[in-house]
Amino acid sequence: MRALVTGATSGIGLALARRLAAGGYDLVLVARDGDRLATTAAELHATHRVAGEVLAADLTTEAGLTAVEARLTQETDPVDVLVNNAGMGLPPGGYLGNPVQTSLTLNRLNVDSVLRLTHVALPGMLARRRGGLITISSIAGFVPGTPAITYSASKAWTTAFGEGLHQLLRGTGVTSTTVVPGFVRSEFHQRSGASTAGLPDWLWSTPQTVAETAVRGFDRAAPLVVPGTVWRTGYGISRLLPRRWSRAAFARLMSRTARSTSRKGADR
Ligand SMILES: NC(=O)c1ccc[n+]([C@@H]2O[C@H](COP(=O)([O-])OP(=O)(O)OC[C@H]3O[C@@H](n4cnc5c(N)ncnc54)[C@H](OP(=O)(O)O)[C@@H]3O)[C@@H](O)[C@H]2O)c1
Repeated sequence: MRALVTGATSGIGLALARRLAAGGYDLVLVARDGDRLATTAAELHATHRVAGEVLAADLTTEAGLTAVEARLTQETDPVDVLVNNAGMGLPPGGYLGNPVQTSLTLNRLNVDSVLRLTHVALPGMLARRRGGLITISSIAGFVPGTPAITYSASKAWTTAFGEGLHQLLRGTGVTSTTVVPGFVRSEFHQRSGASTAGLPDWLWSTPQTVAETAVRGFDRAAPLVVPGTVWRTGYGISRLLPRRWSRAAFARLMSRTARSTSRKGADR
């Protein structure tokens, strides 16, 4: 079996690549930084004896998307599992405090690339009657986190899309698992310049926990998984509360990440 993982240079994507390699998957690693991907491919080959192809591509560009689409439709060494993981957040200021182009770029990565890559990957999987999709969404898709409302909206789309695929693919031998993490220690907040100093440790999951939950969920064809006990419980409770309460509580939480930071290096 072979999996293509987008956003495999860091965080959740890197953990997923490692977890899938440990399970015997050959990998196609996609992100912009080809050097980091090559280092990971070498590590996975040395550790697990799996093949690691590197495909450096910017998924917000037509050229990058076309290159990954071409790999997904390749008949030799076909891709059995597509992991749509690459994603970005909004800088402090959110939707209104940044140029509209920032949200449009976010949509290209968080929404359009998922839509397009899935569309080209599925026909081959359906013909082979095996494999499927792991889609990384976010708790932010359930309730809007202000001021980054276009990020939340992109993840609401992602969750609806992933769950919709699960229904659409029933009985085909191909499955779709959507993963809905809360806060995860990765490069995500650092990249968007958001401060996480106001958030307590117990709210955070590790990329490894997310990857483990994702792969286990995929193996049992679960439609949707929420990694981490805290977030799973919070998700369960929030569904029982009036929506205005969960909306207000989550907006307060997310506003703590809306401050900018000048910290260097990974956010951990
Ligand atoms: N961290 C969290 O708290 C959290 C919570 C819920 C959901 N998520 C979701 O989890 C997913 C992974 O995020 P993460 O937390 O692991 O963040 P991360 O460490 O910042 O990883 C993001 C990955 O996406 C790649 N990427 C970014 N822009 C790209 C582009 N234009 N084209 C191709 N690849 C691109 C990055 O690699 P390059 O820079 O090399 O391109 C990197 O590999 C995202 O969809 C995010 O929305 C994160």
